This record gives sequence, C-alpha cells and structure tokens, in this order.
Amino acid sequence: MMFKNLTKHVKVVEVGPRDGLQNEAAVISTKDKVTLITSLVKSGIKNIELTSFVSPKWIPQLADAEDVCHLLKALPSDINTSALVPNAKGYVRTKESKLSCIAVFMSATETHSKKNINKTIAEALATIAEIVPLAKKDNRKVRAYLSVVFACPYEGQVNPLSVVELCRKLIEMEIDELSLGDTIGAATPSMVLDLIDKIKSLDDLSKFALHFHDTRGMALVNVAAGLEAGVAIFDSSIGGMGGCPYAPGAAGNLATEDLVYFLHSLNIETGIDLAKLIDCGRLAEQIIGRTLPGRYLRAVIAEQKLQNKAKC
Ligand code: HMG
Ligand code: MG
Repeated sequence: MMFKNLTKHVKVVEVGPRDGLQNEAAVISTKDKVTLITSLVKSGIKNIELTSFVSPKWIPQLADAEDVCHLLKALPSDINTSALVPNAKGYVRTKESKLSCIAVFMSATETHSKKNINKTIAEALATIAEIVPLAKKDNRKVRAYLSVVFACPYEGQVNPLSVVELCRKLIEMEIDELSLGDTIGAATPSMVLDLIDKIKSLDDLSKFALHFHDTRGMALVNVAAGLEAGVAIFDSSIGGMGGCPYAPGAAGNLATEDLVYFLHSLNIETGIDLAKLIDCGRLAEQIIGRTLPGRYLRAVIAEQKLQNKAKC
C-alpha cells in the first residue's frame, strides 16, 4: 500500500453506544448512555448510532432505546443520529424520536441470519423492503448493514459473489449508505481489496462504509486497504467496545481513537478532536467498569500515569 491519492476527509461513524453497549454484561443506566453520547458529540463526532430498536428480549442492554432518543432530542441538528431497526414494529418505536437515519441490517449467510434475527435471508430482504419506504416517507436516511461479508462464525469463508448479489439487492432498494460488516474480524487487506473491486461497479463508492471488528488485530490495516480502494466511511467504537452477541468470539469494533489517530497521521480530516476523544474513552471505561482494548487509549493512559508519577 502506497498511501497515495487518498481521500482528504473520512466520515467516521461512531457505533459504540449501540454495537458496544449491546454486548456489555453490565447494566448501564440511560443517564450514563446519554452522558457518553453527549461527550462523544462534543469531541466532534458528527455521525453516531445512538441505540437499537430491536427486541428487548434479544438485547436487554438496549431496552431503553426510546428513553435514550428522547433525552437526546436536543442534539445539534448537524449531528447525524441513527439506530438499528429490525422490523416494522421497531420502526414504529422510533416515531417519537428525532433520528435522522435508521439502520436496517441483515446477514450474508443463512445461519448467521437465523441466529441474529430469526429470519432467512429472503425474509430479511422482504422486511428491509418494508421498512425503507416508511423511513423515506419520514424524510429519514437509511443505512443498511450487511454482516459477515468475509467470514461467518457458523459457515466459514463467505463467497464474495453472494455478497455482491446481496449488495445489489440492497442498493436497488435505494438505501443511502451500505456498511459492509466484518462481524468476526476475520478479514485481511487482500480480501477487502477483492470485495471492494467486486462491488464498485454497483454504485458510487461514496455510498459504501466498512465496519471492522478487531478480533484478529487486522482492523486498522483493513482500513488502510479500504482507503486505498477509495472507501471514505468507516465505523468504529469508542475504546474498541463491542461485538455481536449472535456471533461467538466476535471482539469489539475498531477503536475510534485508533482510527482517528491513523487518519490524522495521513492528513485525512475527520473533524474529531483526538484529546477529547480520549476523555470519552476514559468516561466509557468508568461507565462500563472495565478496561477497554483501544491501543491509543491504553498508550495515552500509560503515558499520563508516568507523567503524574514524575511530578510526585
Ligand atoms: P422474533 O422472536 O423472531 O420476533 O425476533 P417475532 O416477530 O416473532 O416477535 C416475538 C416478540 O418480540 C413479540 O412479542 C413481538 O412483539 C416482539 P410478544 O408477543 O412475544 O410479547 N418484537 C419486538 N419488540 C420490540 N421491538 C421490536 C420487536 N420485534 C418483535 N423491534 C427480531 C425477531 C428481529 C425482533 C429479533 O431477532 C431481534 O430483535 N434481533 C436483534 C438481534 C440483534 O440486535 N443483534 C445485534 C445487532 S446486529 C450486529 O451487531 C451486526 C452489526 O454491528 C454489523 C456487523 O458487525 O456485521 C450491525
Ligand atoms: Mg458490528
């Protein structure tokens, strides 16, 4: 990778309050969620997934979705807020919220689809086709996630051609953005380059996002491959929180601080203040009561400890 002719700006989509918190064992109060989201916005995050309107029986951690959105009604209007919506019932639950976008989701394999949403791929596509017009009617953007695009925890390696076909079907539904999920963090740069090469004829590349989990420590090098291929939207989670409860072994997302540090080192603008982001990482650790894996966060905390010792 030569890092030449890269985009000048990357859209960072913060998914920690959803992808991160959906996977935390601890019960996090609505107030703490709102405090974390507010501080992320203050750090310059402009695109943020607030929560999820899925079944509270399946994801009890996000059962307070309506309350989270209600308490965040006054977020500045230039902040793009979204939430996962699995079906029409979930969409009805978003009605009182000021979400500017809703995120529909499905899987590239039948087994993951069944485990995650109790639907076949065909049923998932039909459900999405039902939700998209509802959102469009309410002047909302629609982001779609396609999960397990490289590998599935149940079916192994995924055929890129079947992924391309599902991307085509989603794009035909006139979604605004399509995020390709490496749900179990199994991708490598060559797999990323190959998939982008296969999908780029489907639509403008500016519509595609990459969503890496960092299970095998490959997330950032996969971002580099995505940048090289022309992708300019990346999902990440503060401190590297996260995982998929229906994908065993899936680790957290790529940490937002690691992504931003890397992008800034390439002179790519994000609009995010890295120092403020570190404060958000510390706050996330306090709220969930455990150390987060984000490497940049760990390094800064260690440096600060050393400096404080030197002062004593
Ligand atoms: P189901 O059990 O098949 O649903 O779940 P159902 O339609 O048969 O309904 C069963 C009950 O749930 C009924 O209530 C419904 O009313 C209720 P009851 O009559 O038993 O009292 N129900 C709901 N309640 C609230 N909100 C709703 C809703 N829908 C039904 N929206 C369902 C099907 C899709 C709902 C369920 O499987 C589900 O919620 N799954 C979500 C799982 C999930 O959130 N997974 C993680 C997110 S995906 C992910 O992390 C990947 C991603 O990050 C990208 C990547 O990394 O690749 C996005
Ligand atoms: Mg995910």
